[in-house]
Amino acid sequence: MSLANIILTGFMGTGKTTLGKLLAKCIGYEFVDTDALIESRAERSIAEIFATDGEAAFRKLESKLVIELAQKEGLVIATGGGLVLDQDNVTALSKTGRIICLTASTEEILARVSNQKTVRPLLQETDPQAKIAELLQQRATIYQQFQQLSTSNLSRDELVAKLLDLTSST
Ligand code: S3P
Repeated sequence: MSLANIILTGFMGTGKTTLGKLLAKCIGYEFVDTDALIESRAERSIAEIFATDGEAAFRKLESKLVIELAQKEGLVIATGGGLVLDQDNVTALSKTGRIICLTASTEEILARVSNQKTVRPLLQETDPQAKIAELLQQRATIYQQFQQLSTSNLSRDELVAKLLDLTSST
């Protein structure tokens, strides 16, 4: 029996990792966070990879990992927010399962990323809210190609239930 993967994408701070872990536990799938796996293999943080090697090198690491993950099944995958900017990554992952895009408002994203220890290199700006708005606008058509789930106004349990609904429907 094949176990289609469930891929959670969306902008930084939309809850991909938190919800992905809960969802994986709920359905007995393995959870993979692409950022965390890249960091553990590189033995460096994403911020360090960006600072030393640049964004393009990081994107290559993401694409390499996608090729590897696309060979597997039974995974809940939380992608880095920019991984789906490369259409080849989308094509490869889509073949293995459903991609769902989590969403949140600019204000919620700012509040969430400000409360987290993870350094987001792309948001190290004097006005991070303006940067978030700019990137959201740039990426709008990319994120809109996927089924969307708003993470505002619902509890984590309710969101996991919604994800289960979305992924069990064809
Ligand atoms: C990025 C999102 C980050 C991380 C990197 C770039 C992006 O992941 O991959 O900082 O381009 O949106 P999260 O979405 O998990 O924060």
